[in-house]
Amino acid sequence: MVHNGIIENYNSLKKLLADKGITCQTDTDTEVLVQFIAYLYKEEKLSVVETIRLALNEVIGAYGIVVLCEDEPDTIISARLGSPLLMGIGENEYFVASDSSPIIEYTRNIVFLDEGELAVIRPDGYEVRNIKANEVISKDINKIQYNLEEIEKGGYDHFMLKEINEQAYTVSEAIRGRLNRDEMRVMLGGIYDWVHQILDAEHIYITACGTSWHAALIGSYILEELLNVPVKVEYASEFRYRVTAVNSNSVVICVSQSGETADTLAAIRKAKEKGALTLGIVNVVGSSISRETHCGVYIHAGPEIGVASTKAFTSQVTIFNLIGLLLADKKSINAEIYHSLMNDLERMPQLVQSVLDHGNDVSDIAQDFVNFSNFLYLGRGYQFPVALEGALKLKEISYIHAEGYPAAEMKHGPIALIDNDMPVVFIVTEKGYEKIVSNIQEVRARGGQIIIVSTELNDELKDYSDHIIHVPKVHHCLQSVLTNIPLQLLAYNIAVLKGCDVDMPRNLAKSVTVE
Ligand code: UD1
Ligand code: BG6
Repeated sequence: MVHNGIIENYNSLKKLLADKGITCQTDTDTEVLVQFIAYLYKEEKLSVVETIRLALNEVIGAYGIVVLCEDEPDTIISARLGSPLLMGIGENEYFVASDSSPIIEYTRNIVFLDEGELAVIRPDGYEVRNIKANEVISKDINKIQYNLEEIEKGGYDHFMLKEINEQAYTVSEAIRGRLNRDEMRVMLGGIYDWVHQILDAEHIYITACGTSWHAALIGSYILEELLNVPVKVEYASEFRYRVTAVNSNSVVICVSQSGETADTLAAIRKAKEKGALTLGIVNVVGSSISRETHCGVYIHAGPEIGVASTKAFTSQVTIFNLIGLLLADKKSINAEIYHSLMNDLERMPQLVQSVLDHGNDVSDIAQDFVNFSNFLYLGRGYQFPVALEGALKLKEISYIHAEGYPAAEMKHGPIALIDNDMPVVFIVTEKGYEKIVSNIQEVRARGGQIIIVSTELNDELKDYSDHIIHVPKVHHCLQSVLTNIPLQLLAYNIAVLKGCDVDMPRNLAKSVTVE
């Protein structure tokens, strides 16, 4: 048996097995499940499929499993609860995987298993059943549209670098077909029918994990600013267990690259139970979150293979701007703001490309910072989440401890850490310029090494640091797309210079499908 997930009642199953004289060789919950299936098979004398169905009805927890039994070597049985699972339907061959990217080289025809379903594959065909009711379920075959080139490295050393460099294209894909210049309108087919319900909502919550949570935080600033309603953002792992005020007048937006993150999925289910309208901002088409939300917007960034998320983040922020504009338009937003944001959205792909074209400046800077053990990232306003994301990228892939902070909060703690051994990355924009410059001076006075990512370029900043990365200025709601890219490149280059496994950092998973 292959198992992804957690069998929560494995201890009681293990005890039951022990009482029958069956000892497990390992401490894994996976072994308990396979031993339990084997025990029932011998005891009940049922078919393999029926035994597995029986066993799964006793299991509490999450699983995506694939099982083979030597008595029926031509049968592959797979089942899912809480963990993603799909079947690829090829020519005289079948595949079972948790994600479509490893199998699209062989087939584009995919059957997504839903919660509590079991699939039996035999040489002459397949059948899907409901584990509890044992009814046969007729499943649609979905055609996946990824190109093979999209999941190959395309000449880059790492997927992460390829994905960073794809961002002009992926941001253009997020916008494609969704901006109508002639009518100055945003069109998002995926939420169009729900616009009034969203605008009438009493609360907007946004929930996500990891990098998607950072995009969600920026999204909350955008929606609150453009719609003038309070927007709350929360880690899905907290939201799902906390007592919230979510009700049928709430909209819960969830952001997820994979569409499979267990906590985010659980957060949506909780929101739905409370009667909220759920809206997904998701990359992987057909993923669990995209299917379980009432409505949503795909970011269309293509497969993201590098564990550290890059292109998904910039596309998520882009989509938040589109959603903000679409909704604000219905609320009669100030025309000047509307037009300036529209114009900048349209220019984003070329502006992203211009930042990427200066990628070598960042690799030069990285050489000077490989041997530090700690970093601070500071930004204000929309650049605070960028500081968080910059710090996360560095710690994920280079194993250097890094913290992101709102720049003004520095004096409430982190300033105590600043000395010659503490590089500080500042993200400087026109908004709040004077204030952040005084934070830079505070760090300089204490000997901290300074790296500046800035939309401003002037002698004053040059006096403070030799390490300045300039990015073009755009509407502040979109600015983080551009300021984030040099920080992705900084983390990438430092990690490569340190010899780290950039695409598969230790202890991390691309898609966290268990709690
Ligand atoms: C859709 C098509 C796109 C086509 C366009 C033409 C898909 C995936 N997209 O794009 O290929 O060019 O129409 O009009 O076939 N959804 C959720 N939750 C999510 C994400 C999406 O429920 O988290 C739903 C949406 O509500 C929508 C569907 O999935 O019903 C497709 O979403 P999206 O691709 O964003 O819609 P369009 O941009 O209209
Ligand atoms: C994992 C990934 O921790 O999950 C991160 O390594 C990602 O890159 C996070 O940001 C959330 O994943 P998702 O798919 O829900 O955006």
